[in-house]
Amino acid sequence: MYKGFNFLFLILFLLLAFNISFIVSQNTISVNYNVQRNYNSFEECGLIGEPVCTSLEDAGNRAILLSKTSNPTNFINIIGNIDGSTPVTFGNLYNYCGRLFIRSSNSNISININGSNSTQQPFLTIQEADQPNSTFPCSIPRIFQFQYINFTNWNQTLVNININHETDLNSVNPSKSLTVYFQLVNIISSSSILKIYPKNFGENYNLQAITVAYLSTIGIDLKSSSVLFLPNSTQFYLPPIYLVGASIISILSLSDSTFESTPFIFSDNGSVSSVDSEVSNNNFYSYPFIMAVNGGKVLLPILSFTNNSLSTFVYFSNFNNQPSIKVTFSNNIFGNSFIQNSKFMKYKYENSIFVIKDSDFSTIDLLGYSILNQNTITNDLIYIVNSSLNLDNSVIRSPMLVPQHIINSINSSVSIINFNLTISELPIVGYNSNIHLFSSVFTNNVYCGCQGCSYYIQLDLVNLNQYSSQ
Ligand SMILES: *[C@@H]1O[C@H](CO)[C@@H](O)[C@H](O)[C@H]1NC(C)=O
Ligand SMILES: *[C@@H]1O[C@H](CO)[C@@H](O)[C@H](O)[C@H]1NC(C)=O
Ligand SMILES: *[C@@H]1O[C@H](CO)[C@@H](O)[C@H](O)[C@H]1NC(C)=O
Ligand SMILES: *[C@@H]1O[C@H](CO)[C@@H](O)[C@H](O)[C@H]1NC(C)=O
Ligand SMILES: *[C@@H]1O[C@H](CO)[C@@H](O)[C@H](O)[C@H]1NC(C)=O
Ligand SMILES: *[C@@H]1O[C@H](CO)[C@@H](O)[C@H](O)[C@H]1NC(C)=O
Ligand SMILES: *[C@@H]1O[C@H](CO)[C@@H](O)[C@H](O)[C@H]1NC(C)=O
Ligand SMILES: *[C@@H]1O[C@H](CO)[C@@H](O)[C@H](O)[C@H]1NC(C)=O
Ligand SMILES: *[C@@H]1O[C@H](CO)[C@@H](O)[C@H](O)[C@H]1NC(C)=O
Ligand SMILES: *[C@@H]1O[C@H](CO)[C@@H](O)[C@H](O)[C@H]1NC(C)=O
Ligand SMILES: *[C@@H]1O[C@H](CO)[C@@H](O)[C@H](O)[C@H]1NC(C)=O
Ligand SMILES: *[C@@H]1O[C@H](CO)[C@@H](O)[C@H](O)[C@H]1NC(C)=O
Repeated sequence: MYKGFNFLFLILFLLLAFNISFIVSQNTISVNYNVQRNYNSFEECGLIGEPVCTSLEDAGNRAILLSKTSNPTNFINIIGNIDGSTPVTFGNLYNYCGRLFIRSSNSNISININGSNSTQQPFLTIQEADQPNSTFPCSIPRIFQFQYINFTNWNQTLVNININHETDLNSVNPSKSLTVYFQLVNIISSSSILKIYPKNFGENYNLQAITVAYLSTIGIDLKSSSVLFLPNSTQFYLPPIYLVGASIISILSLSDSTFESTPFIFSDNGSVSSVDSEVSNNNFYSYPFIMAVNGGKVLLPILSFTNNSLSTFVYFSNFNNQPSIKVTFSNNIFGNSFIQNSKFMKYKYENSIFVIKDSDFSTIDLLGYSILNQNTITNDLIYIVNSSLNLDNSVIRSPMLVPQHIINSINSSVSIINFNLTISELPIVGYNSNIHLFSSVFTNNVYCGCQGCSYYIQLDLVNLNQYSSQ
């Protein structure tokens, strides 16, 4: 009930976001990189009757000024493509208060922003200064909305947010509220889409304060960065989406991408949701599609995951909010490119589709609503350590192709309900765990791989012969 409500609310919210986007306003600032600069200061460009601005920096500064003096909703209309011969950046728009649209001047035709020469600065930065008084406080939320843009060849970050996050868990101060929408955006041959990292690191954040939504947005030919590192690291590269203490309410679709050194999404106490994304024809190697650590949320109520090659779909560590996973997995190859002993930060990868460490998933079924169809599985389904888990196979409709083991369970408590464990020769391995089997189909092999494990078998257990004769 609660989940259903949330989901409807989200749809409504997204519809509203779409509708609002085509309101006409006086405050339209035009930018064109293909003409000569014909003004002295940003205060003289962009509006009707003025020369067009010739850089996004000028347009952004003009928008900040307008948001203070006149209208809190402004449009930056980009005329024509921006080629890769010059660096392109807004710089820091922390001082912009209100809603800012950043879009193609023609709502039917996308423009291309080529990042080839933008190696020094992110496309858009929202950076709070170290000294609070040096910046203008916003009394209304900040909203940035990208529409009809192709970003190509970006190896710098597209959107970089580094502010003091809201720590009041019950309400959001408007000055700390920040939303970014990508609508009808293509992100092509690029590596760092989003980096959100709190200035007040190490606190508990209100995840509703900073939200990002990718609407009808797709990433094509993305890769792990090979030039940008995690904050405070000279060893680990920045993943395409790096999220600390903030929410993605709708992830982007993804295709034809290759990740050779990072997860696709890394979330540290962040919230990651999907609305109608499609993820197809990607190679993730050993690196998880999503790595979620230290609490937060993972809600994937609709996601189609097709033709991918990977080891781990989601990796959880220290994560006690039960995730909701309703994914259609088709034609994926799981496990064949796993690299032993690699890790991301302190998190060691495991050769398993789901990895669960130091987490409690005992209340709802982990993947009961998912469909596994025609996948090739050469690794394990689940690796679990220091955790608890409920696994109910009753609604996995199509058979999966033989995982090595269903569960590798270490120091954990696992309940398996309605599961045909005979699909694997040695379904349960590991040690020191409590294994509860309810209404499941299995042979004596179920006891062979788990050292020092205790088995609890529910009385209404259906054994293989009875089950098949029904
Ligand atoms: C981007 O710009 C670079 C450098 O000018 C150029 O080589 C490349 O072809 C451009 N890419 C696209 C997709 O326009
Ligand atoms: C990048 O920009 C700099 C300075 O604007 C220019 O000198 C250089 O030729 C540009 N590089 C490319 C590949 O266009
Ligand atoms: C955009 O497309 C719609 C329908 O395809 C058309 O009616 C409209 O005139 C187009 N607008 C522009 C600015 O080209
Ligand atoms: C934007 O990207 C889409 C998808 O790759 C492509 O079809 C379209 O031609 C691109 N538009 C421009 C202006 O580059
Ligand atoms: C971006 O990529 C170009 C070409 O691969 C490279 O020359 C440049 O050093 C990279 N730099 C950054 C900061 O992204
Ligand atoms: C910052 O501003 C607040 C109120 O706006 C003021 O009380 C405080 O003294 C200022 N601090 C500095 C270092 O200027
Ligand atoms: C994650 O954040 C929430 C809200 O800020 C907080 O209640 C929770 O303790 C955090 N979890 C962890 C494991 O840090
Ligand atoms: C990174 O370093 C800064 C400054 O030393 C520190 O405040 C912050 O907590 C560090 N962040 C992480 C993730 O270690
Ligand atoms: C998956 O691969 C098959 C065979 O190569 C292809 O026919 C199908 O269109 C692909 N599906 C997607 C969603 O890309
Ligand atoms: C599991 O817990 C034990 C002791 O409580 C600890 O030593 C070990 O590092 C934990 N393992 C993982 C993978 O978190
Ligand atoms: C399992 O628990 C034991 C005893 O607490 C601990 O020594 C061991 O490191 C744990 N194993 C793992 C893989 O965390
Ligand atoms: C369980 O799986 C095995 C192997 O795939 C199959 O032969 C058997 O019919 C299944 N049993 C039931 C009851 O589904």
